[in-house]
Amino acid sequence: MDVFLGDWANLLVRWAHMIVGIGWIGTSFYFMSLDYSLDLKERKSIGVFGTSWQVHGGGFYHVEKFTVAPPTLPQKLHWFTWEAYLTFLTGFVLLVIQYYFNAKSYLIEPTVMPLLPWQAAAISMASLLVGWLIYDGLCRSPLNDHTLPLALCVFALILGAATFYTHVFSPRAALVHVGAFIGTIMAANVFAVIVPNQRKMVAQLIRGETPDAKYGKVGKQRSIHNNYLTLPVLLLMVSPHYPFLSAHPQSWLIVTLIILIGALVRHFFNRADAGDEFGSYVWTVFVAAFLVMAAIYLTAPATVIGKGTVSDSEVLKISEVHCASCHAKTPKHEAFKEAPKNVTLESIDDIKRFAALIQTQAVVNRAMPLGNQTQMTQD
Ligand code: HEC
Repeated sequence: MDVFLGDWANLLVRWAHMIVGIGWIGTSFYFMSLDYSLDLKERKSIGVFGTSWQVHGGGFYHVEKFTVAPPTLPQKLHWFTWEAYLTFLTGFVLLVIQYYFNAKSYLIEPTVMPLLPWQAAAISMASLLVGWLIYDGLCRSPLNDHTLPLALCVFALILGAATFYTHVFSPRAALVHVGAFIGTIMAANVFAVIVPNQRKMVAQLIRGETPDAKYGKVGKQRSIHNNYLTLPVLLLMVSPHYPFLSAHPQSWLIVTLIILIGALVRHFFNRADAGDEFGSYVWTVFVAAFLVMAAIYLTAPATVIGKGTVSDSEVLKISEVHCASCHAKTPKHEAFKEAPKNVTLESIDDIKRFAALIQTQAVVNRAMPLGNQTQMTQD
């Protein structure tokens, strides 16, 4: 595809991904907070479990939650399904456009594993599917009745995925794949468990039977998993813009911190929505802040001390071989039509101008040269 049109496709799909993602996360947050804020004492109609009075956008709302279901099925029932499905679909298309089509630049790092583009794409897709199958298997196993062991197993699964990705893909692709791995589980939770269970309950209602409460319970459990994974996924999805995150050799450690921080912050909001006493959950903020400090400490750049001095012509030579194919006014690299981020590295003046950025990107975080197609060494 033409590079310019490819960039447009990338931008439009990315935009769509953000829009539907915000829709999905928005409804997820709304319903979690609704559930937590239910008043169980104010019971109006038969079968109502709890109610909530809300005010928004100039109007008052009175919401009733039925468990298991209302006595009769209402004429009009609003489903919340497409937000999740479209988030997955647009995310997958973005993965194809950004990482599979430009596998040599973004997905593969020959010094990590010299894969062919189709092999890398196949590993990527297979890993997402396998991840879901293992997670779903865990949730259906006897472990399911034990919240903490189940949570620890899911956590271990994600860290295993992080370690796996670091050993096959480029560092930036590895972290974004951890995000895709979790995101796939979340979307599949909606597609394969939450919605089918709701449909079963609706069918039972239509048949005039009492819907089985177990369907709702399982759906709610998956929905809670999704809720706690939301914030970590968001950070993992923007991680490629922050190479210091993926520069750490033990990616699982960084992923651990991201998941714990995100889940703790989510827990803070959930308890606040539930109207708990502030003192009973404020600890989450302190622990999250401590973990953020730990993450900053762990990702702090190492001091790199060069050996001896290099001449301008040697520097220019390195740039010509390893950088200027992309970082030029008219790049020779087939995947670029203009200098990425407007960083041109064609003259000593250019290089001096961007010296600090080059230090972070190429020396400290080793994010450049992108995909290390020219096999630049640390020396
Ligand atoms: C295959 C193409 C390619 C090669 C080769 C390449 N880069 Fe880059 N570079 C990029 C792209 C793409 C970006 C933008 C990255 C992003 O958006 O995350 C970038 C961004 C940068 C940035 C700017 C980062 C910022 O946040 O503003 C610097 C500095 C940089 N590269 C330096 C280098 C150096 C030094 C080399 C050679 C050692 C190099 N690049 C080789 C494609 C390349």
